[in-house]
Amino acid sequence: MRILSGIQPSGVPHLGNYLGAVQQWVHHQTPDSLYCVVDLHAITKEIAPDSLRRQTIECAASLFACGLDQESSTLFVQSHVEFHPRLSWLLECVASVGELRRMTQFKEKGEKQELHRVGLFTYPVLMAADILLYGTTHVPVGDDQRQHLELAREIANRFNNTYGQTFVVPEPIYPSVGARVMDLQEPTRKMSKSVSSPLGKIEILDSPEEISRKIKKAVTDTDSVVDYDWEKKPGLSNLLDLLAAATGTEPQKLAENYTRYGDLKADTAEAVVAMLRPIQDRYAVLIDDPSQILSLLNEGAQRVRPVAQATYARASEAMGLLAQ
Ligand code: TYM
Repeated sequence: MRILSGIQPSGVPHLGNYLGAVQQWVHHQTPDSLYCVVDLHAITKEIAPDSLRRQTIECAASLFACGLDQESSTLFVQSHVEFHPRLSWLLECVASVGELRRMTQFKEKGEKQELHRVGLFTYPVLMAADILLYGTTHVPVGDDQRQHLELAREIANRFNNTYGQTFVVPEPIYPSVGARVMDLQEPTRKMSKSVSSPLGKIEILDSPEEISRKIKKAVTDTDSVVDYDWEKKPGLSNLLDLLAAATGTEPQKLAENYTRYGDLKADTAEAVVAMLRPIQDRYAVLIDDPSQILSLLNEGAQRVRPVAQATYARASEAMGLLAQ
């Protein structure tokens, strides 16, 4: 089993990133598990160079704080391994404009950009390259990456059919609870780094007071019946999912324990604070030494580069590019 997944360093990871992805990454750590901070994806949106540098280190530090460690798995920075954009180019010559136009994330994010970046359009092809470079069998992600994963599978199959068996066709892995954490203020929309308001998202480094305040103010309905029902009660179901994920229980079972929204909110806040406390404590220590984080990341890139290089060589030769 070869695992690969990535996260953009476009801000402090939030509860959606943690429960949808990072918690699974920690759970699936083996020497064959590779995780990357996808800085090349982050520049498809406007981001100041200083912020990108700082956030890449902070993102890596927060992943280590969440429990990744270079002894058990490998974390690296995408741009440190030059074969990602190189393979992406080859795959751009396999993917079609039509299938990229159908990507909902492109449609949503593209509308918000003043400058329509080509990189935002071809983003899912780079993501396919990230995955296919390492012979990945499984990709632990949140539900919002479903369409991108399907595209990566489609590209892999098309390449194999056209140029001969080259890539492993990857399978996604979604968590049973927390695959789609919703915005606390707008529970029909996913919690998001770029779109959610400060009250709508909980970042993993938020203080206990901020976490309690945000959960207390979370939008629910007014009929005061605690039910796990995404259709009729998205706000409440979202809180039950958070409590379930933080306590390792099932949201349906938890719903039976509550008759008042206030009690559910208080318990959810307490459980989320308790879940994040050890992560925050570790983060405070790690971020004190950014050069150590950078050297761990460099080591990660060195470890994965030979695998990426070999796959790239196979793919480029299969397409007819001359071997050096
Ligand atoms: P990104 O940086 O937006 O998010 C990182 C991970 O967090 C998950 N996630 C969520 N899960 C549950 N609820 C939410 N509200 C929520 N918001 C985000 C995402 O599903 C993701 O798993 N394109 C990817 C990064 C990427 C990648 C890859 C992932 C680049 N290359 C290769 C896997 C494999 C992205 O923008 O994730």
